[in-house]
Amino acid sequence: MRIEYGHFTEQVRGVSNILVTGGAGFIGANFVLDWIAVESSPIVNLDKLTYAGNLGNLSNLKHDPRHVFVKGDICDRARVARLLAEHRPSAIVHFAAESHVDRSIHAPAEFVQTNVTGTFSLLEEARAYWSSLAEPEKSRFRFLHVSTDEVYGSLGPDDPAFTENTPYAPNSPYAASKAASDHLVRAYHHTYGLPTLTTNCSNNYGPFQFPEKLIPLMIVNAVQGRPLPVYGDGLNVRDWLYVGDHCAAVRLVLHKGRPGETYNVGGNSEKTNLEVVKTICTILDELRPLRSLPITHNPSPIARYSSLVTFVRDRPGHDRRYAMDAGKMAAEFGWKPGERFETGVRKTVQWYLDHMDWVQNVTSGAYRNWIDLNYGSRKIGNGE
Ligand code: NAD
Ligand code: TYD
Repeated sequence: MRIEYGHFTEQVRGVSNILVTGGAGFIGANFVLDWIAVESSPIVNLDKLTYAGNLGNLSNLKHDPRHVFVKGDICDRARVARLLAEHRPSAIVHFAAESHVDRSIHAPAEFVQTNVTGTFSLLEEARAYWSSLAEPEKSRFRFLHVSTDEVYGSLGPDDPAFTENTPYAPNSPYAASKAASDHLVRAYHHTYGLPTLTTNCSNNYGPFQFPEKLIPLMIVNAVQGRPLPVYGDGLNVRDWLYVGDHCAAVRLVLHKGRPGETYNVGGNSEKTNLEVVKTICTILDELRPLRSLPITHNPSPIARYSSLVTFVRDRPGHDRRYAMDAGKMAAEFGWKPGERFETGVRKTVQWYLDHMDWVQNVTSGAYRNWIDLNYGSRKIGNGE
């Protein structure tokens, strides 16, 4: 099936465009919307529309001729080859992945398929296409691979933050599959000279994040009066990066990054999970006080959202701490995150409150099966 949200007009054909993969997911959709808002060149968006992909994220672009959506799998090499030949992009920005650690623990095969085989397929087709280009298009071409801080493993409380030189030590099937894809990207630059760029970023948050990840899950559970399941002791630390800051960083690396280099992107906001959840609860207490809700929405009845916090059995192999040193981004490009966690999370909570119809859409059907699978065996309520 090919779904198009627009066609290249004669006017825009010929303007160099980019191919984005996974642009219907959380970060990819934010990137596409951001790109169309600030750049002039068109986007071809290849996405398989897994449970995590949602065309509703892109509904604002329905009538924008600069965005062409193509439903397809990055593992489908013939499809990718045709797209490259047809649209002749000046860059590929690769977001498509299976991205949730807990799902990778339950069912790792899909992670190897999309993250490793899929990235390999894309690299092979990108190499063939790039080799066929004449100058100056060949020198200008870029393959930007979006990856994660999780490839570096877990830090102790006093360890320095991850730099681009930190050795890889992935711990989950997700992290291992992303590490493998990073290594392939590195090898394609080293061996074939493909002009690659890799970004490794910390935990993103913001609009359109699927409510299986910590921040949106907690917001959605809280407003539905459900338990807020905190794994283990809640003292695992993550660095939180507002998705808009991440998108700006990816654009900057695409324009200015040196081929073959990797760049760490962080939010400079280390928080324990418990701090994150309590912050969300405090913001909700202010924006949607429980006392103001009709009794049907607060049957307990409880006065504060924090009373919904429930410690549950830990994630197997749960990394204790991630922290990013984004000094290279600052030194080379003057980039630093613009959003503080407190303001970014407030905006995010407000976005979810304003988009409960979006939440309803993405949490129907298979979502409940996932919640039952992941949380059913965690004995919510007794902290085991
Ligand atoms: P997501 O799970 O929200 O979206 C992934 C998108 O990729 C979906 O639209 C899905 O349909 C698509 N997709 C999956 N398999 C595909 C395939 N085989 N072919 C084509 N499309 C496919 O993920 P996200 O949170 O937006 O993450 C985007 C990228 O950023 C990923 O590579 C992820 O590893 C990386 N990353 C994410 C975070 C984070 O906090 N979310 C942090 C670090 C790195
Ligand atoms: P997550 O959003 O899944 O991102 P990642 O595992 O890639 O860091 O989880 C962020 C942190 O929150 C992680 O330490 C696990 C924890 N967590 C919970 O405590 N409860 C939950 O229900 C979820 C989904 C995550």
